Amino acid sequence: MLNNWSKTVFLAGSLVALAAAAPASAGKFDFGTTPTAAEIAAIDIDAMPDGRGLPPGSGTPAKGEKVYAEKCVACHGDKLQGVGDTGGAALIGGRGSIGTPKTKKTVESYWPYASTLFDYVRRAMPFNEPGSLSNDDIYAVSAYILSKGNIIGGNDVMNAKTLPKVDMPNKDGFIADPRPDVFDYR
Ligand code: HEC
Repeated sequence: MLNNWSKTVFLAGSLVALAAAAPASAGKFDFGTTPTAAEIAAIDIDAMPDGRGLPPGSGTPAKGEKVYAEKCVACHGDKLQGVGDTGGAALIGGRGSIGTPKTKKTVESYWPYASTLFDYVRRAMPFNEPGSLSNDDIYAVSAYILSKGNIIGGNDVMNAKTLPKVDMPNKDGFIADPRPDVFDYR
């Protein structure tokens, strides 16, 4: 049986052995490759509330209505009302309901920034085919949803300049994060 002293020596010996086994090129892992600029650009798609990250392109509600009819209506309904538990959420309605017993969270009632709509649709919708829409189609379908929610006018053009300026109904419904190291947008 080992006494405490010999246990210590034994453990120290294992550590030395481990250290000796470390590869000569410490600090470099032998897997993966350096991503190309194109690979980084493909996933670097965040759109910020102030408009940073929004790509070129534009769209109107009229064009968005076509995109919606083709790519979204099956799951979100012909009145953007959602189609129940198995389908997509309601996208409009519920304005003023947040915080009441009948809280209904939609883009119209809840989302504080219009840029998030572009960002979300670009990365996640259509649910069955994310990443398949062009930037023009995403601007257009965002414009359609915003106009159906009476947040923008029926002829308003959405692009990288206009989208961040859209005044979302619930923009003041959130509390800014007070931590000093957190960047708040307002
Ligand atoms: C195959 C069904 C399906 C299709 C098609 C689809 N969606 Fe969705 N959508 C969903 C589901 C399911 C959710 C909820 C996802 C979740 O909560 O993770 C959702 C959520 C959303 C949301 C967020 C709603 C919220 O308030 O949380 C938006 C916005 C949205 N979809 C827009 C679109 C647009 C625009 C299209 C067409 C380009 C589209 N969706 C096509 C199923 C679909």
